[in-house]
Amino acid sequence: MMSLKKSESLPVNLDSENRLTESKTPESEGWHFRTMPEMDDELFDKWVSLVEARTGMRIPQSRKSFLLSKLSIRMREIKSESYQQYYELVSDENRGLVEWETLVDRLTVHETRFWRDDSIFGLIEKEYIEKNRLLANRELNLQVWSVGCATGEEPYSLALWFEHYCRLNSVDNKQGIHATDISRDALTTARNGIYPDNRLTNLPGEYLKHYFTEVGDNRFRINKQLKQRVCFTKLNLLNMETFPYSEFDIIVCQNVMIYFDQALRIKILNQFAEYLKTGGILILGAGEVLGWNHPKMESVSFQSTLAFRRVYE
Ligand SMILES: C[S@@+](CC[C@H](N)C(=O)[O-])C[C@H]1O[C@@H](n2cnc3c(N)ncnc32)[C@H](O)[C@@H]1O
Repeated sequence: MMSLKKSESLPVNLDSENRLTESKTPESEGWHFRTMPEMDDELFDKWVSLVEARTGMRIPQSRKSFLLSKLSIRMREIKSESYQQYYELVSDENRGLVEWETLVDRLTVHETRFWRDDSIFGLIEKEYIEKNRLLANRELNLQVWSVGCATGEEPYSLALWFEHYCRLNSVDNKQGIHATDISRDALTTARNGIYPDNRLTNLPGEYLKHYFTEVGDNRFRINKQLKQRVCFTKLNLLNMETFPYSEFDIIVCQNVMIYFDQALRIKILNQFAEYLKTGGILILGAGEVLGWNHPKMESVSFQSTLAFRRVYE
């Protein structure tokens, strides 16, 4: 079997366990077996601590092969020689900052979809808009924060729903959405607002028809007027205090807390409480948080949602 030169850039293949396996060399057209290098426990612990300290995400031993495959792929792209060498690069707060941005995008999970949890629309309508008689002025002026918005499907779903709701009720839509995520690349996709049709299957037909334009290759672009309602910003939840907005009517944070341990979840939830106006609602993913009590917040019961209302100043 021919060996490979280090400088060669190879296509990457993963097996079902996410291990690098075989790559085809352009010169020989032959198959060559490549295994992912091992990482000892000490270095694994260092990687886990680095990722947790910077993102809050804890990588358990059971996901070691996930970490190794993501690192190996990136190391091969930039021709880094070893996990240790790559660790030294990304942990260097000056030299490694740009590379860290890329790695964070690879290590975070951006699974999302339009209309992922449609019970939140009913909750917003019944528990916030109707309870506070917000349509009385013939306008809806809400400030919403979508936290951990990934590639944009969650905040755009909210923007679409609000737009349609206002249209059906003949009121002015003045609502705006802040959408934040730690991943630079996910936010770039979100800002583009173009999605292939297989990412739009959940979206009710009338929304696709009214608020998207086909741009070729089975891709659809969200209309400008909807896109302008959402402001995407990079924000690491570990630095939430740098986020300069507050007094939100609604905060939606779904499928994000699952990556954090309980102490960090509680810390972040306590911070969210301060970002809401009195009466404002925090919406989480069902079952994502247990045992959280806050003196300013009370639980809101609506279908299968997990939500809390700020009841005191
Ligand atoms: C599974 S996606 C959830 C997307 C969307 N909220 C939904 O429910 O469909 C989780 C998102 O949380 C983001 N995330 C993870 N750690 C974060 C952190 N420390 N600060 C901000 N966002 C983070 C990831 O980049 C990812 O886009």
